Amino acid sequence: MSKPKLNVVAIDGPSGAGKSTVSSELAKALGARLLDTGATYRAAAYIALQKKATSEKAFERIARELDFKISRDGKTLLVGGRNLGVRLRTERVSQMASFISQFKGVRKVITSKQRSVARRCSRHNPVVVEGRDIGTVVFPDARHKFFVTASPKVRAERRYEQLKARGVRVSLHSVLAEQAKRDKRDSTRAHAPLKCATDAIVVDTSEMTIKEVVGLLEKHIAGKT
Ligand code: DC
Repeated sequence: MSKPKLNVVAIDGPSGAGKSTVSSELAKALGARLLDTGATYRAAAYIALQKKATSEKAFERIARELDFKISRDGKTLLVGGRNLGVRLRTERVSQMASFISQFKGVRKVITSKQRSVARRCSRHNPVVVEGRDIGTVVFPDARHKFFVTASPKVRAERRYEQLKARGVRVSLHSVLAEQAKRDKRDSTRAHAPLKCATDAIVVDTSEMTIKEVVGLLEKHIAGKT
């Protein structure tokens, strides 16, 4: 008899594809908890910046000391019991997260923490786990796997609008350039690069609204497509 699949919905894809919004809306619709694994790398990056850490060993030590939980309402990652919120969303933290997530030792420690957080929750409810390597490395045994993507232009435009709405002054050109840099690093790194699992359903959101994407994912989960 084959092993039962884990009660996890894996959502992978590049930044700006609408993954975060889709994941949180889907979790809401399913009554599931949400684990944002990007936030786990961002938390390590934020602390590394605070401590001015520069070596692989130091990044790994920081990762080992992190304590992750999901908040009671199932929506937020707590780091040492705290919601680090917008502190994890700066461009500096984004680049640092992309940088430290290249290191094998850092990934090993963080992956193991992600597994225990999601496993603990998935005993009672489904868990939507959002990231880059969820369907391939963290939970290859996830019950549902999606790869949410969009064209580079659309992704950069969405990110630009988001930053503008937050009052951040940037040009679309610089957002595109930063995105290209991050994409390249995330998909060419030696360990667990951004890759679509062979058994994942690919959803191109370039021409779709969030509502349409969530609806499509729900249909797949319910086995109605
Ligand atoms: O999804 P995000 O933009 O919040 O992720 C921040 C960085 O963390 C991203 O550049 C790559 C890394 N990351 C990763 O390597 N593996 C994951 N499962 C999630 C994020």
